Amino acid sequence: MEGAAMGKGRQFSLGCVVVFVALFSLIVGCTNKTDNDTSQSSSLVMQGKELFMNYCVHCHGPSGVGDGFNALYLDPRPRDLTDSIEVFMGDLSNDDIYGMILSRDIMDPEESERLLDEALENDTELPFLVPPAMPTFKYTLSDAERWTLVAYLRTLHKNDAPQVDIPATVSTTRPIVSGRKVPSWDMAEEEKITLVERGKALFSDKYNCVGCHMIAGYGGKVGPDLSQSGRRLASDWTYQWISNPQAISSDTKMPNLGLSENEAKAITLYLGTLVSPSTS
Ligand code: HEC
Ligand code: HEC
Repeated sequence: MEGAAMGKGRQFSLGCVVVFVALFSLIVGCTNKTDNDTSQSSSLVMQGKELFMNYCVHCHGPSGVGDGFNALYLDPRPRDLTDSIEVFMGDLSNDDIYGMILSRDIMDPEESERLLDEALENDTELPFLVPPAMPTFKYTLSDAERWTLVAYLRTLHKNDAPQVDIPATVSTTRPIVSGRKVPSWDMAEEEKITLVERGKALFSDKYNCVGCHMIAGYGGKVGPDLSQSGRRLASDWTYQWISNPQAISSDTKMPNLGLSENEAKAITLYLGTLVSPSTS
């Protein structure tokens, strides 16, 4: 529906501009500012900006250059989304940005649990080769919201880019994770030890929770320091929170990371073991 509001007649001329700019950049080897920046539908862009300022700015910075207050704690650092030095965004299609980046997903939970157990048992390397420095927003935002983010990101870089047309059938509802039943915390000590170890690996290596949370002086600063979770947080609450933060606080900056029930259980148990005084 929103797509209908976008100018269709621009597509042909935009295509020419894109081809021209691509050729021009190839030949001259530099970026080229055009006045296309102002052509995006302003309401899409405004919606995207609002989301960016809530969910992205702490890492990517207000201009998108990658200098958010939390960027310092990330490795790799957030990419420069303004293409100020090298062209990156300018080479991506809107679908690329939408599909590959904003809904980036990590391994299927069951598959990852299997690999993780295997690695822990055999004491081999953890299976998550590239822990995502950037959290997924697949479980937090609606498809339509992610398109508005694409529209906003397109205004941050100077290279010309195709206009963002939201597909007519796009869903405007956020993914729903209905209330999960809290599991039993009663278990044999051995099982608990295994789950805690698994939770720790999931926390830092699969979901990169450390990108936003500090534990014992290491990690990001978007969310609270979790060094004393075991003292401060009740397991039932922690389990509900990490399973679906938006159900408890609709505008929280913490995305829903799509944890499976077993993963949420393991991470809750791990956080419950953290009782050391904070060093930060
Ligand atoms: C916890 C910090 C963090 C948050 C929050 C975050 N990003 Fe990122 N983002 C990164 C990092 C780090 C990278 C580069 C590393 C990588 O590619 O994994 C990145 C990369 C990107 C890229 C470039 C693609 C790429 O593969 O390098 C885009 C586009 C992007 N982010 C958009 C967003 C948007 C939109 C939001 C908010 C909805 C957001 N990011 C929130 C840290 C973050
Ligand atoms: C993009 C940043 C970000 C990521 C990634 C993130 N969190 Fe959070 N987290 C937050 C923010 C911000 C809060 C504070 C929530 C609020 O007050 O709205 C929070 C709150 C929490 C809390 C409650 C802490 C307290 O003292 O109240 C827990 C527990 C938690 N996060 C666990 C996790 C776990 C586990 C992961 C990884 C699976 C994770 N977080 C990933 C940003 C993040």
